Amino acid sequence: DKGGWSSFMAKEVSEEPEAVANTLRGRIRDGAVAIPELEGLDDLFRDISRVIVVACGTAAYAGMVAKYAVEQWARVPVDVELAHEFRYRDPVIGPDTLVVSISQSGETMDTLMAVKYARERGAKTLSICNTQGATIPRESDAIVYTHAGPEVAVASTKAFVAQITALYLLALHIGQVRGAIAPDEVAAQIEEFEAVPGKIRRILETEQERIEQFAYWMADTRSVLFLGRHVGYPIALEGALKLKELAYIHAEGFAAGELKHGPIALIEPGQPVFVLVPSPRHSALLHAKVVSNIEEIRARGARVIAVAEEGDAAVLPKADEVLRIPLAGPLFEPLLSVVPLHIFAMGLSTAKGLDVDQPRNLAKSVTVE
Ligand code: M6R
Repeated sequence: DKGGWSSFMAKEVSEEPEAVANTLRGRIRDGAVAIPELEGLDDLFRDISRVIVVACGTAAYAGMVAKYAVEQWARVPVDVELAHEFRYRDPVIGPDTLVVSISQSGETMDTLMAVKYARERGAKTLSICNTQGATIPRESDAIVYTHAGPEVAVASTKAFVAQITALYLLALHIGQVRGAIAPDEVAAQIEEFEAVPGKIRRILETEQERIEQFAYWMADTRSVLFLGRHVGYPIALEGALKLKELAYIHAEGFAAGELKHGPIALIEPGQPVFVLVPSPRHSALLHAKVVSNIEEIRARGARVIAVAEEGDAAVLPKADEVLRIPLAGPLFEPLLSVVPLHIFAMGLSTAKGLDVDQPRNLAKSVTVE
């Protein structure tokens, strides 16, 4: 039931705030993270020396975002691997490896096979999944469910923000168990977390119509590029994937630092480029680097659409369009900056008269390898 919305995707984007809130619920106690499903597993988290995330598509991008949090808060090294690549090499894994799978459906065959392979090699497995009782969680040693509610549209949206939420909770949990993060630091992150649903709601309220209008004007666009740094990089990849699958146009995401190593040659007059701008409050250096990337591409005629925090005045004169997100802690920006990109992809698909919920050639759950 679309509940009055024009598409399941529109409904599910509108549910992104609840997806975060519901995934947090019941997992925070007295200013600390307490995940009931992980009770009794402290030894497992103490004994690991590395984490490998396996997933596909949008779920893999959630893993790429979470890498920053697990490394920062839990001080455990993380590799993120596309599940279908993982088992075709000879990965160095064993009992000290925690393989974290991420899957909305819990039925993605590529991810399932990676989990089985990891288990056979003696690794510990933990599943982040949105579907109760699905195959992947059943094959795993531990489960942290995302509570995004059923996702029907082929494009994954609310599950993505729920996955990042669950992974961040897991990062804080592991950090607590290992004593890698101070209690007041955990409390500060929880405070950030609790503000996220309201901030996403604000983006939906203040920016959605404008972004949809903007997508409508861009209906003839044949290629869009996305640039990001740090946690903005996986969001650039996610923005591009959504445009490919929903609007059937060429779209590519890059780490902004790669520009001069090749991709800048793609920039010609009129080329639309979305740029995820990190807050200057967190790192003046990172911010300045991204602003200088904007200058480089703009000098070559790019049409720059910046996604930047409210009050970032430095971006305004440099970009053709600025989509605003509320202020958030450095690791929490992706949960906000992805929202305008989801809206844009949905808007462009609608403007082109395409089926937003059922893009051609794709299935919601990919149960073949
Ligand atoms: O069910 P899963 O999370 O395992 O699915 C993984 C990918 O197939 C999925 O995220 C896909 O990339 C989406 N259609 C992207 O919007």
